[in-house]
Amino acid sequence: MKYLLRGSLFFLIVLVFPSLPAEAVVYHPLPKVEHPANNPWSIEKFELGQKLFFDPLLSGDNTMSCESCHKSDKGWVDGLPRAEGFQGMELGRNTPTILNTGFMKFQFWDGRASSLEGQATQPIQSPVEMNQNIDELIQELRAQSDYIQLFKKAFESEEITIDKIAKAIAVFERTIVSGTSAYDRYWLGNKEALSPKALRGMSLFFGKAKCSICHTGPFFTDSQFHNIGVPPLKNKDKGRKEVTGEIFHEGAFKTPGLRDVNLTGPYMHNGIFTTLEQVIEFYDQGGVNDSNKSPFITPIGLNTHEKESLLEFLNSLTSDSGDTYQNTAEPSSIDPIEKKVPIPTKRVD
Ligand code: HEC
Ligand code: HEC
Repeated sequence: MKYLLRGSLFFLIVLVFPSLPAEAVVYHPLPKVEHPANNPWSIEKFELGQKLFFDPLLSGDNTMSCESCHKSDKGWVDGLPRAEGFQGMELGRNTPTILNTGFMKFQFWDGRASSLEGQATQPIQSPVEMNQNIDELIQELRAQSDYIQLFKKAFESEEITIDKIAKAIAVFERTIVSGTSAYDRYWLGNKEALSPKALRGMSLFFGKAKCSICHTGPFFTDSQFHNIGVPPLKNKDKGRKEVTGEIFHEGAFKTPGLRDVNLTGPYMHNGIFTTLEQVIEFYDQGGVNDSNKSPFITPIGLNTHEKESLLEFLNSLTSDSGDTYQNTAEPSSIDPIEKKVPIPTKRVD
């Protein structure tokens, strides 16, 4: 009986104080959109970029636009495990969202482009994606008087070049940013915005589950590359190593941001997980064995309630409805500040 009592007391303590104590959540509000000096914002460039992004004229057979894969009503992804390229060909990687991509240091899962201007021309010319010849594209655009007018307004000359196409698309993409989420509303003063379960998930995310080691900052990414032991497809993707040649980059991919993450599945560079539940299960088990796996990816030991809490926290990062597509460069009104606040360590529900 004494042992039983002691046992249940221990159980009670574990239940009430189940997480690591007093770590801090660093809250980063959504920062302002920054446009680089060599390609400043203008409404004219935005309008041209938007038209180009949605225009199937950009592909070799005029059937596929950027938006065919980065769908504006689907969190700017295609909802497929791996992208469907030129004439239905399955590509090796999952389509990442272009939400917040204007804030990222690197583009693509392996970071092979460092600017949006540098990124944009790659899918257009890639034979497995849009399969377009640039000279032909320029001719096709020249044949349309509204494009000539748009280029003239945006760049003060009628001349159409690949450089201008890329710049206009990049200006448009920089305006596609996540809106305010329940997570933001909570930190901006509405303590009702997060449910007790989501708060518990937040404390796990920044504590026991170690997610914030890599998913950090306003967009929940460290802009680094890690091998996290994602189950590979038959043809194992070398990831960042293809770009740098470094052995330590074998199987390493860019840490994706997590804002609006419940809109952007399937997940991981190879789209191997369909749901966030599967992603959480994967992290709980510590990934598959891989000699190059990050030392931070180890089994966590989450119980069912903790897994549900983590999921609720991830869901709280979704923009309030209708807020994901800001076709304006009006910067967010909140200045980047950090608030260091101790996180709740008690189970509150
Ligand atoms: C066939 C589907 C498809 C089309 C069409 C397409 N993309 Fe993508 N996009 C992808 C895939 C797949 C990736 C990831 C490829 C990789 O990492 O190797 C990607 C990556 C990106 C990224 C990098 C995002 C990040 O977080 O790393 C940007 C930006 C982007 N595309 C913009 C565009 C633009 C602009 C166009 C039109 C010119 C376009 N895409 C056309 C499928 C597509
Ligand atoms: C060691 C760094 C690291 C840690 C720790 C980490 N992640 Fe990740 N996360 C990544 C990387 C890198 C990827 C992409 C991996 C790939 O595709 O191979 C990723 C992918 C994801 C994705 C998929 C997003 C998408 O758009 O495909 C989700 C969701 C996610 N992580 C959530 C979490 C959660 C929840 C935790 C904590 C339990 C966590 N991560 C811990 C680095 C990390």
